[in-house]
Amino acid sequence: MSSPPRSDRKPITLTKLAEMRALGEPIVMVTAYDHPSALVVEQAGVDVVLVGDSAANNVLGYENTVPVTTEELLMLAAAVRRGLRTPLLVGDLPFGSYEASDAQAIGTAHRFIKEAGCDAVKLEGGGAMAERARAIVRAGVPVMGHVGLTPQTATALGGYRAQGRTAERARQVLDDALALQEAGCFAIVFEAIPADVTDTIMAHMEVPIIGIGAGASTDGQVLVLHDLLGIHDGHKPKFVKRYADVKAEMVRGVTAYAEDVRTRTFPTAEHAYGIAPEELERLRAKLPPHRTAV
Ligand code: KIV
Repeated sequence: MSSPPRSDRKPITLTKLAEMRALGEPIVMVTAYDHPSALVVEQAGVDVVLVGDSAANNVLGYENTVPVTTEELLMLAAAVRRGLRTPLLVGDLPFGSYEASDAQAIGTAHRFIKEAGCDAVKLEGGGAMAERARAIVRAGVPVMGHVGLTPQTATALGGYRAQGRTAERARQVLDDALALQEAGCFAIVFEAIPADVTDTIMAHMEVPIIGIGAGASTDGQVLVLHDLLGIHDGHKPKFVKRYADVKAEMVRGVTAYAEDVRTRTFPTAEHAYGIAPEELERLRAKLPPHRTAV
C-alpha cells in the first residue's frame, strides 16, 4: 500500500473551511471511492473529499444510490482514508441508515468516524432530516447537509431534475437549508438548483455552501470524480464538465495489452526474471530424461 505523499499543506479543518468562505476563497470538493483515487485527489490538492453514496452507481454497479449499504460505504471510506492526509474526509450516510430515528442516525454516523476514519458525515434533505443532523452534531460528529436534488429521494421529487424552479419550491429549498444551518451543519451541498435561486438563497446562508449544478455563486463546487474524469461514458448531467477521458485511455491500454499477448509481443526478456547459468545446469542435470513421443 502506498501512503499519501507528504506536503506542506496543513490538514483542512472545519475552521479552515469557514475561513475560506469568509475570505471568498473557493472550496474544492470531489468524490473518491478507493485508495488510488484518494492518492490522486490528495496530490491534486483538493480541500474536501466525499465518499459519496454515488459509489453505488459509479463503482458498485447499482442503478441508483438507494441500494448501497452502510457496510459497503464503510469499506470504501476506509480505503479512501488510507490514501488521504490533508483534505477533510466526509462519509455519506446511505439511504435507510439515518432516517428512522436520532438513535439510528447517531449510531451510523459514529461508525463512519470510528470504523472508516471519516472526519464528518453527510445526509440528504431538510425537514425531519434537519433534526437527525442536530442529533448527530450533538453526539459529536460534524454534519454536512444536502438540499435541492437529493438523489436518495429522487422519486418523491419527481425524478432526477432541477429543484426550486417555482417560487414555492425555491422557498422550500431555502427553508431546508436554513433548518440544516440552524441544526449546526458545518456546510451544505446545493444540488441542481437554478443559479438565480442559489444567488438569492446565498444571502441568507452563514455556513459554506458547496454547489453541484447550482451556479457559480456558492462558496465551493463538488463534482463526482468519475464524471469529471470521464471514467465512465454513461449519462452526463448538464452540470458536469469533463476534464479528461480516462475510460477511453483505459480501453486503449487494455486493448493494446490483449493484442500484445495474442501476438506474443508481450512479455519480452525485459519483463522476465533470470537464473544463473550454473543453477540452470544443475536443475537440468537433476531432471529425468525427456519422454519421446510415440
Ligand atoms: O454522493 C454524491 O456523490 C453526492 C454529491 C453529488 C454531492 O452526494
